[in-house]
Amino acid sequence: MEINATTKLCAVLGQPIHHSASPAMQNAALKELGLNWRYLAFEVDPKDLKAVIAGAKAMRFVGLNLTVPHKLMALEWVDIVDESARFWGAINTIRFEGRGPDDEWVPLAKLGAEPVQEVRSRGFNTDADAIIRALREDARCEVRGLRVLLLGAGGAGRVAALRLAAEGVAELYLVNRTQDKCNQIALEINRAFPNVRTVVGYPTTPVDLVMNATSAGLNPQDPLPWDVSRYSLKGTTVAFDMIYRPTKTLFLAMAEGAGCRTANGLGMLLFQGAKSLELWSGQVAPVEVMRRALLRNLYGDTPQE
Ligand code: ATR
Repeated sequence: MEINATTKLCAVLGQPIHHSASPAMQNAALKELGLNWRYLAFEVDPKDLKAVIAGAKAMRFVGLNLTVPHKLMALEWVDIVDESARFWGAINTIRFEGRGPDDEWVPLAKLGAEPVQEVRSRGFNTDADAIIRALREDARCEVRGLRVLLLGAGGAGRVAALRLAAEGVAELYLVNRTQDKCNQIALEINRAFPNVRTVVGYPTTPVDLVMNATSAGLNPQDPLPWDVSRYSLKGTTVAFDMIYRPTKTLFLAMAEGAGCRTANGLGMLLFQGAKSLELWSGQVAPVEVMRRALLRNLYGDTPQE
């Protein structure tokens, strides 16, 4: 669909942003849905985030995605914090909403071409649920009742730990280079999900699922994100790495060798984006079109195993 005076915009904001695969994924989806929208990427300095969100609102963008380092700060700069963002403590999606004919707030995309007077921004989190959907659809793993070893306690690790606990894992082992961050997360889980047995440290018997939420593996020379003398992959059924570039980290290669079912983090990127698009458009996201666009953008035309 050609760009014209009615083309609507959405965008991802981050720093750095030049590597982002979201524009390829979202524009493929917009084309598939026949929407006259475009999805762009902007490099935004944290000190400008407030002004950029306000500018997008004034320009009647449909919505925004936020990535590193904006997800926490945005809680301060949106008009409404949705329950999902409040609960997980981070915003990765903003939807702009206008006052509809019956005075209720509706997504801007739902309002016609008439100018909208009153607009507000609403922050959501679609990252947390994407973890569970990626485990389910890409690794055929239902986490309820499982014993899980989670590696990493940064921003991504914290949300993964809480979301896994919310889903009802039986036992959660938390391991991180800096142990104190695990202690903090364990406290949070004990408060919010007291039925989950949370242990800071390594399991002494095999777990069902091991998940890497550290950044170790992004570079080929990175070490494994755990101490191999304290935990072996033997007996573990599923290994999930949040990293998707490279497609197969050393961790995933070892897990495959140990007979685990594996998946990388591409599904998390895919499903958080699919949910954002659904929040903006009210339509079902064309997930397989988006997945193909991501694969092409991230790995080129080389067939993936
Ligand atoms: P993100 O938002 O992606 O979670 P982050 O908050 O910077 O990013 O967290 C990075 C995670 O990777 C942390 O758990 C970090 O461990 P520390 O808390 O000890 O810093 C982990 N990490 C980074 N490099 C690592 C390495 N070489 N080995 C093990 N863990 C590493």
